[in-house]
Amino acid sequence: MTTQKSDRTAENFATVKRPQDMKMKTPAFWTAAILMLAMVAPASAADETHARQLINKVCSACHGRKGTTTSPNFPRLAGQQPGYMKGELTEFRDKSRKDPDAAPMWGWARSLSDQDINEIAAYYASQNPIPGERGEESLLARGKEIFETGIPANNVPACASCHGANAEGNEGAPRLASQHASYLTRQLGDAFHDSTLRPEAVAMHFVVKGLNDADIKALTTYLQSK
Ligand code: HEC
Ligand code: HEC
Repeated sequence: MTTQKSDRTAENFATVKRPQDMKMKTPAFWTAAILMLAMVAPASAADETHARQLINKVCSACHGRKGTTTSPNFPRLAGQQPGYMKGELTEFRDKSRKDPDAAPMWGWARSLSDQDINEIAAYYASQNPIPGERGEESLLARGKEIFETGIPANNVPACASCHGANAEGNEGAPRLASQHASYLTRQLGDAFHDSTLRPEAVAMHFVVKGLNDADIKALTTYLQSK
């Protein structure tokens, strides 16, 4: 029996049907033949999960393929905490996160199953965040100070106590590092002041009461560049 397999194609494999022919082939032949069939089989769109198709065709249009969009209109998702993202996607799905700025999210989230949400959150969490533009040094220094020690006179707690020393987030609070300043400003300056818009964010409804515009500018400049 020949051991020369390189001239065998998937096509002549397909013509081999009879049991007596099959008995003549070695296991190695069948392994090679099956591998060749796998290689010629067209990769069908059905192989892609629903979540993966959405990431590639829908989410990437606004958030970027790797969640590092440079458009300040859309939040970055790369490296975001998976538990937090699952929570937000569920809240967009049931429209309980109802800031009108989140309107683009309601429609897309409606079609997501729990399985899609898990897969999407795991995908973006595994992407590498890229720090944004550095701002003025004085703002960076003041932002870092508030982030690490809070503003005791105004009852503002240290952000780091919940969001992590490097704003990387954890199971309880989202990553803030590398996020667009304009998105962070919308949350701190508007969304969290009306407790009905992001009702789950109870801690933040309290935190923002002690922040003025200058504090928010310093914090968001610091966080974006981190
Ligand atoms: C048309 C643009 C657009 C598309 C498409 C889109 N998003 Fe969004 N997404 C937004 C905007 C705008 C926000 C910010 C909403 C706000 O300000 O409250 C957002 C917010 C989010 C957030 C919350 C981020 C945070 O830090 O709280 C997640 C998670 C998210 N999107 C995931 C997705 C996923 C997954 C898809 C694909 C199924 C998707 N988005 C498709 C525009 C879009
Ligand atoms: C007691 C814990 C706690 C403290 C202290 C805290 N946060 Fe938060 N923060 C949270 C939690 C929890 C969320 C997520 C809320 C949700 O699920 O909607 C959040 C959400 C946020 C968001 C929204 C992120 C996004 O992607 O939409 C921003 C911005 C933010 N916090 C900034 C700050 C800043 C700045 C400080 C300090 C001045 C601070 N936080 C202090 C717990 C905290």
